[in-house]
Amino acid sequence: MPAPVQPTPEHLHQAAELLESGKVVAFPTETVYGLGANAWSDDAVRSIYAIKGRPSHNPLIAHIASLDQLSLVTTPETVSTLQPILSELKSFIPGPLSLVMKRNNRICDTVSAGLETVAVRIPEHQVAQQLLRLCAFPLAAPSANPSNYISPTEASHVEKQLGDKVAMILDGGSCRIGIESTILDLSVSPARILRQGKVTVEQLSDALNLSPETLLRASTDPQEPVSAPGMLREHYAPLTRTMLLNSGQTRFEDRTGLIYFNRQRRPELSHPFIREEALSDCGDLEQAAYNLFRVMREFDTLKLDLIVIEGCTTEGIGRAIMDRLTRACARSNRE
Ligand code: TXA
Ligand code: MG
Repeated sequence: MPAPVQPTPEHLHQAAELLESGKVVAFPTETVYGLGANAWSDDAVRSIYAIKGRPSHNPLIAHIASLDQLSLVTTPETVSTLQPILSELKSFIPGPLSLVMKRNNRICDTVSAGLETVAVRIPEHQVAQQLLRLCAFPLAAPSANPSNYISPTEASHVEKQLGDKVAMILDGGSCRIGIESTILDLSVSPARILRQGKVTVEQLSDALNLSPETLLRASTDPQEPVSAPGMLREHYAPLTRTMLLNSGQTRFEDRTGLIYFNRQRRPELSHPFIREEALSDCGDLEQAAYNLFRVMREFDTLKLDLIVIEGCTTEGIGRAIMDRLTRACARSNRE
């Protein structure tokens, strides 16, 4: 089982060779760790689905090194049609933004789960950049976790869960952002947000001169089964029962862990929690996003009966955090 390795030039070359030969390599991005394979190779991409236990109807994001490589994933017409909107988005590229566009016929059906479109991301992380530049093909890469579990933000998270299934894990330290990219659908007009992330609705609204309501509108296409097929209601979920803290709540299970937002303002609760952890020192939402998945994973190893998480404001990146928390709690709410 491969332990994570440092991204030395030698290891990066080895990683690119493994990918070239159809193997799966885990690598860091600034959002979360990805499970990469050659997006032009049907067999390689199938391995990703098998390793994650991912349903075949949930498409993957194709990663490229720069906008100059768009022709690796989309058609020449799309490259020219998208030029104006891409120039409005240029301050977020490279970065935590994935763009859905028409795919070319080199992107295999398995990447797109049979859709006509592909989600494309240009990560900023230096290790991801170096790896992508060594590959002559785009890298299909979902988050490197078993399907529906919490995304990995450290190489050790990947090693623990998928270490025996991947050819190599490149260790790039802790992911700077800690939650997945924002997904913006450019295959519809006006553009539409399919997943909240670090690039906020407000930022996209300013850049594209579209109202938040327009960007967040539900699909009007009755044929469309789900907007982003992976955005299932129950997702990012710990195995332990997990709930959002209700105001006024005073009764908890005996073995409960409490995750809250602001170290300086712990909710007033007298329960003897087994473990308590603040996501930020003084209510900083970016810091909370950075810590969120790591802390959820740690709590999930404590054999608790219940994890209780305080909600946060839905301003800025808070909206993406609350989206993840709502999904993490969905299964438990149903029970
Ligand atoms: O930050 C990220 O985006 C990370 C890193 C590794 O880049 N990747 C990631 O991938 O979060 P994944 O597979 O965990 O989530 C991809 C999401 C899914 O919800 C999927 O349904 C959606 O992107 N998606 C992919 N292709 C799509 C398409 N053509 N149309 C609509 N949604 C798509
Ligand atoms: Mg994922």
